[in-house]
Amino acid sequence: MWGVARPQPLVVREDGRVARAEGRPTGRLRRVEEVERAPGLFVVLEGPDGAGKSGAAASLVAALRAAGHEVTPTREPGGTPIGEALREVLLRAGVVERSGLADALLFSAARAELVQEVIRPALARGSIVVSDRYATSTTAYQGYGSGVPLDQLLLLERITTGGLRPDLVVLIDVPVEAGLARRGVAAGGETRFEEAFDREFHERVRDGYRAMAAADPTRWRVVDGTRSEADVARDVVAIVTSRLTAARTRASEVGRTG
Ligand code: TMP
Repeated sequence: MWGVARPQPLVVREDGRVARAEGRPTGRLRRVEEVERAPGLFVVLEGPDGAGKSGAAASLVAALRAAGHEVTPTREPGGTPIGEALREVLLRAGVVERSGLADALLFSAARAELVQEVIRPALARGSIVVSDRYATSTTAYQGYGSGVPLDQLLLLERITTGGLRPDLVVLIDVPVEAGLARRGVAAGGETRFEEAFDREFHERVRDGYRAMAAADPTRWRVVDGTRSEADVARDVVAIVTSRLTAARTRASEVGRTG
């Protein structure tokens, strides 16, 4: 009902590589997936550590439910039994060092399960999925932060998600110092990324988020996360509500003309 169809055909070439189907599909190309956008709405909250996403996500879910919507809250990494187990491995402070690519693969394994087991079925039911982080976090942290080439991550994202992209990404933006200071006082809030990655890493992550938001202003909205939790939550709810209204208006116009 609300989703906008964005077919993004992917193909697997005979050498096993994934490529876009656009251009000149030939008999040697095999189409593996064409994303059919289901009727729900897919909203992702993003931001550097300590931005206040989780509180904003909880307020958003409560506001949408109060307005009578079916909502599916989830988080990354996590949201499924294997995802929560991987979360423990990925975020526990003091765990052995590993490469950005290994991190990207582990986050992606959790994401593949989440997309298949939770997100796609929820969207198919017409639910509003509110996810605290998504593939955009891998681009920010493992791509911009750890230096894994972005084209490799894009390929991995397509394999992991089958091309499922959020309708809306709300970036809650805070300066690195402020975010890390907040997390330092949050009970049990410290993760491996806060403990073992330096300030420059977190600056690159924040710059990455801002670059992604600037490059795709239709999908991304930026909220100033330095204000009070209540102000941030109010903005997030307003942004999502207006996107819902716009999507419904579009759907009813299509219904009238179609
Ligand atoms: P959070 O639950 O407090 O947001 O913590 C998740 C941490 O994991 C945060 O430091 C960001 C990091 N992360 C990645 O590095 N890559 C990813 O793909 C995801 C989902 C999270």
